[in-house]
Amino acid sequence: MRIKSRYLSFLIFLVLYSQNLSLTEAQGPTTTGYACSTTQAVYPCQTYVLYRALAPDFLDLASIGDLFSVSRPTIAKPSNISNTTSPLLPDESLFVPISCGCNFINSTIGNISYAALNYTIKSGDTFWKVSTTNYQNLTTYQSVEVVNPNLVPTNLDIGSNAVFPVFCKCPNSTQLRNRTNYLVSYVYHPSDNFSSLASRFGSTVQSIIDVNGNNTQPFDTVFIPVSRLPGLSQPIVPPASPVSQRKNDRKGAVIGLGIGLGICGLLLIFVCGLWLHREALLKKKLAKGKDVEKQKFDRADRAPSKDAGVNLLADVSDYLDKYKVFGIEELREATDDFDESLVIQGSVYKGSINGELYAIKKMNWNAYEELKILQKVNHGNLVKLEGFCIDPEEANCYLVYEYVENGSLHSWLHGNKNDKLNWRTRLRIGIDVANGLQYIHEHTRPQVVHKDIKSSNILLDSKMRAKIANFGLAKSGCNAITMHIVGTQGYIAPEYLIDGVVSTKMDVFSFGVVLLELISGKEAIDEEGKVLWAKVDGVLEGTEDRKVKKMREWMDEYLLKETISMESVVNVMTVALACLSRDPSKRPSMVDIVYALCKSDDLYFDLSEEGSSPRSVVTAR
Ligand SMILES: *[C@@H]1O[C@H](CO)[C@@H](O)[C@H](O)[C@H]1NC(C)=O
Ligand SMILES: *[C@@H]1O[C@H](CO)[C@@H](O)[C@H](O)[C@H]1NC(C)=O
Ligand SMILES: *[C@@H]1O[C@H](CO)[C@@H](O)[C@H](O)[C@H]1NC(C)=O
Ligand SMILES: *[C@@H]1O[C@H](CO)[C@@H](O)[C@H](O)[C@H]1NC(C)=O
Ligand SMILES: *[C@@H]1O[C@H](CO)[C@@H](O)[C@H](O)[C@H]1NC(C)=O
Ligand SMILES: *[C@@H]1O[C@H](CO)[C@@H](O)[C@H](O)[C@H]1NC(C)=O
Ligand SMILES: *[C@@H]1O[C@H](CO)[C@@H](O)[C@H](O)[C@H]1NC(C)=O
Ligand SMILES: *[C@@H]1O[C@H](CO)[C@@H](O)[C@H](O)[C@H]1NC(C)=O
Ligand SMILES: *[C@@H]1O[C@H](CO)[C@@H](O)[C@H](O)[C@H]1NC(C)=O
Ligand SMILES: *[C@@H]1O[C@H](CO)[C@@H](O)[C@H](O)[C@H]1NC(C)=O
Repeated sequence: MRIKSRYLSFLIFLVLYSQNLSLTEAQGPTTTGYACSTTQAVYPCQTYVLYRALAPDFLDLASIGDLFSVSRPTIAKPSNISNTTSPLLPDESLFVPISCGCNFINSTIGNISYAALNYTIKSGDTFWKVSTTNYQNLTTYQSVEVVNPNLVPTNLDIGSNAVFPVFCKCPNSTQLRNRTNYLVSYVYHPSDNFSSLASRFGSTVQSIIDVNGNNTQPFDTVFIPVSRLPGLSQPIVPPASPVSQRKNDRKGAVIGLGIGLGICGLLLIFVCGLWLHREALLKKKLAKGKDVEKQKFDRADRAPSKDAGVNLLADVSDYLDKYKVFGIEELREATDDFDESLVIQGSVYKGSINGELYAIKKMNWNAYEELKILQKVNHGNLVKLEGFCIDPEEANCYLVYEYVENGSLHSWLHGNKNDKLNWRTRLRIGIDVANGLQYIHEHTRPQVVHKDIKSSNILLDSKMRAKIANFGLAKSGCNAITMHIVGTQGYIAPEYLIDGVVSTKMDVFSFGVVLLELISGKEAIDEEGKVLWAKVDGVLEGTEDRKVKKMREWMDEYLLKETISMESVVNVMTVALACLSRDPSKRPSMVDIVYALCKSDDLYFDLSEEGSSPRSVVTAR
């Protein structure tokens, strides 16, 4: 008995010792981290680590999300997981997004690249244990010590915060040119080899060697160069190690079976697919819209670029939490597979999801800019983004907006609608748009410039209140100079055409043109290509009588049939002319404009109290 126990402790010693040995050997010289330089690559960048669900603590997206300080949907989307609350299978592979930075340590170590993850020390934790289990060797305890110089590794206080540096790299310019958009951090397992990794990730052996050298040891972090994340329907992890095979967990058995018997795995996927399809059919409550609204949007199919799609997932992953993420099947169903008859305009479709109407905009270029801007703004006079959808197969992105019932201002002013807008409604629309613009100019940091204000980008809801749509060209940040002139003829501020100067004052100019359209009922640019704003010079010169006479010539014929306050109209025209100053610095700010327009509304309101009934929003002809 005694001999036995001695023998046992000797065995334990041997095992521990050999483990220690292999540890020091395996870590090699790069234990403190991977050198980086901000001159060769752009840091920080968004990248991914391959993480495996791990029993017992990391078998759901919530706990893995906590570990990496990211939300569940940001892991679910790239990892091809539809239900963010359902438990994961042990060893299931996940792509977890991280933000990779290049950080200076000290003069001997220099700069190393890592994603800094906050971790709160719990009872029993050591740097080694957390690195090798929680973070699965995506970092090393040596590196943790280096980035936490204030913590004593042998005396960690429970509840104190440590930064765990998860190893990562950002692609350099050569790699970016060769379409390496990500260097996925992956822990090299004993059963891996570069050729198996290359085929699993859709990379090449040579490119993996170029990045990692040819001396990779088990449990080193390697960086796999890829142009896009591979799908995760097949397990990327190597076959389960003997340790995890021993777990007689039912789920473990299921996955083991899946790996062992490829055909069964395929069958499983097929059955899952069938089930999902049936689910989708059951959910179908499609109310096929028969009335095709003449709601106008702008064409979204500018500058289609093949490369744009590749970064789609990474770019939008920050927004997955904020908006509803629709499935491509859901949108196909909502729009009758993008049926022509449901086109609102350009590539915007009307769709019905669970009985709710939406405007669905298909973009075959990067929606990142528009998302970035829309997530900052929230105002009643701006069209609301409800969600989006990514179709990685075709590298398309779809933005799903609230559906605005009454279509564009352009269609009301210049279309052949029987109903016409009365002056009061036009004035309210002007004030609504001014309020929306004031909001984006004054209350967003950095400021947002819409860059494409025009009557077809102004939508009217059921109460004929206006909402600004289409932030596809918007820019955030001011006084930038663009080389690439965008916008719409007839609305573009002259200084932008000449110098490409982007400022809030260019929106003010375009808004002036919209006011002219409201007053005159004329299009911003006529059939001969003459712009409306060039014709207003001198309209308000001379005596009061001359002004009124001139205004009557200018006004929409339809408005002349109404009893309206000419003072109100002259007032709005004064605002419009100020907006249209050739010198941007002379144009008023949106704050002044809102104030001046509200005054015009008061003028009109006083009159309406006495007389006719302009209260009906739309007057029939
Ligand atoms: C090292 O990182 C710091 C930021 O932590 C950066 O400002 C500096 O440029 C980097 N140095 C090199 C050589 O990349
Ligand atoms: C997701 O999974 C959880 C737990 O398995 C389940 O309760 C929930 O209904 C699922 N949700 C959907 C939308 O399938
Ligand atoms: C990590 O913790 C520090 C200080 O506690 C905090 O300033 C920082 O924002 C945290 N980072 C993340 C990603 O939560
Ligand atoms: C991390 O590496 C150590 C050896 O250095 C190994 O024993 C351990 O199993 C690895 N952890 C994981 C999760 O693979
Ligand atoms: C840099 O940090 C390492 C690890 O903390 C330390 O061993 C080394 O002495 C430091 N070098 C300098 C110059 O501070
Ligand atoms: C980039 O691609 C070119 C041609 O495809 C190849 O010759 C070159 O070696 C590649 N460079 C790297 C760093 O992979
Ligand atoms: C790499 O691993 C795969 C299976 O994991 C194996 O079939 C293949 O022979 C290995 N290749 C080399 C060069 O070791
Ligand atoms: C980019 O990285 C690759 C692989 O590590 C290397 O061969 C190449 O020289 C680097 N290019 C630049 C510009 O640093
Ligand atoms: C690894 O690379 C070095 C130099 O890059 C080369 O001398 C050596 O032969 C390579 N070893 C193997 C096994 O390919
Ligand atoms: C996502 O998973 C489903 C079923 O598991 C599979 O059919 C599909 O191909 C996967 N998508 C990707 C992009 O891998």
